[in-house]
Amino acid sequence: MTERRYLVRTFGCQMNEHDSERIAGLLTADGYVPAAEASEADVVVFNTCAIRENADNRLYGNLGHLRPLKQANPRMRIVVAGCLAQKDGGLIQERAPWVDVVVGTHALPGLLDLLVSAEAEGPQMDVREYTEVFPSALPARREVAHHAWVSIAVGCDNACTFCIVPLVRGAQRSRPVGDVLAEVQGLARHGVVEVTLLGQNVNTFGRDLTVPGSARRPLFADLLRAVNDVEGLRRIRFTSPHPHDFTPDVIDAMAESEKVCEHIHFPLQSGSDRVLRAMQRSYRRQRYLDWLEAIRGVITDIAVSTDIIVGFPAETEEDFEDTLDVVRRARFDQAYTFQYSPRPGTRAATMDEQVPKEVVQERFERLVAVQEEISLERMRDQVGRTVEVLVEGTGRKGGVQGRTRMNRLVHLPGQIAPGTFVAATVVSAHPHHLVGEQVRVPVAVG
Ligand code: 5AD
Ligand code: SF4
Repeated sequence: MTERRYLVRTFGCQMNEHDSERIAGLLTADGYVPAAEASEADVVVFNTCAIRENADNRLYGNLGHLRPLKQANPRMRIVVAGCLAQKDGGLIQERAPWVDVVVGTHALPGLLDLLVSAEAEGPQMDVREYTEVFPSALPARREVAHHAWVSIAVGCDNACTFCIVPLVRGAQRSRPVGDVLAEVQGLARHGVVEVTLLGQNVNTFGRDLTVPGSARRPLFADLLRAVNDVEGLRRIRFTSPHPHDFTPDVIDAMAESEKVCEHIHFPLQSGSDRVLRAMQRSYRRQRYLDWLEAIRGVITDIAVSTDIIVGFPAETEEDFEDTLDVVRRARFDQAYTFQYSPRPGTRAATMDEQVPKEVVQERFERLVAVQEEISLERMRDQVGRTVEVLVEGTGRKGGVQGRTRMNRLVHLPGQIAPGTFVAATVVSAHPHHLVGEQVRVPVAVG
């Protein structure tokens, strides 16, 4: 019998990349091997994202492309997983009846069984609302050997009015500290040198684990310290904290834990107090800026990235100017900028005064221009410095690429194995990457 092959295509956030590693792990455990392209795959999985509207269109476009391939290869099984599967459920097979399995975010552990049932009985769907099994507990097949995503909590207890995440991923459920540590220890033993701890709101990690009425402990800071003690690990990242629940003990834990990288992703969303209120984000612009100052006061050289939404319902020019103002003050290293996209089922989708598309586009371009300039200035500050780069793989322009502790992308000439730490001098800067030259001395560990 020829080998059975699979292809997983991931759309969306790091949580999805993490889940894709589990999907690949489950299929590998069942004897599948990776396929280079869809035409030679027996199982094609789309791991989808629901956060913005164009995700829907892209999914149906991609499914349309697969249809003739499936007609040519009737053995092919098509799986739609992830947030869009969770959200749309049966709608997907209604619109694309050639989809064999729809598997929601909570049903991932049952993927192989669903494939078997699809073989015998035809199209299957499982979009259950809850499961005891954390995706992190499933086998993983990772893209790179040196880095791993580690989920510490799934779901979100906030209710930002633009966001579909609480509707598809449910309430927050934290993973027991012991499970997280055991996973990280196992990963480190197998050569993983960098982990990224994942949660929708890492600050509230553990809130659902503590006994109601008992003294609440700042568990995320404790967790950072405990992960920092894992032998063999060299870098710890995490995403994302929420400005609303951020606490100073996290800054202290970051500063004291030498493996925790000097980078924080701190989602702003808007710089207008009026819009923040309408978004149901409970901090205000000044509070946000104060937090940044406090963080930079303790960790003086830290990179800050953020998420910003432009064109939230009823956003005025003045509100938008407020966002530009915070952006200029905050001096982010990087900003992920999004045009507001109404998600059915969220509060904001039914708010009056949706901002016209052209206005959103125009503001978006202005915001990107301001941020690009700041990003470039921040990158230029790096020229001439020597930085530690963890090589990730081949770069787009030949050579290799890797990341500094502050999460800056660096291109280096030559061939260096992924997972290698090198010291590099930064020779030039661009808004989204640096170009470096390897320094021929051993890198100090730390
Ligand atoms: N429209 C635009 N951007 C959104 N995000 C979340 N929901 C929406 C939406 N409806 C952005 C937020 C979030 C990031 C992951 O995606 O900025 O932090
Ligand atoms: Fe969505 Fe807000 Fe939860 Fe983030 S914190 S996942 S933006 S509801």
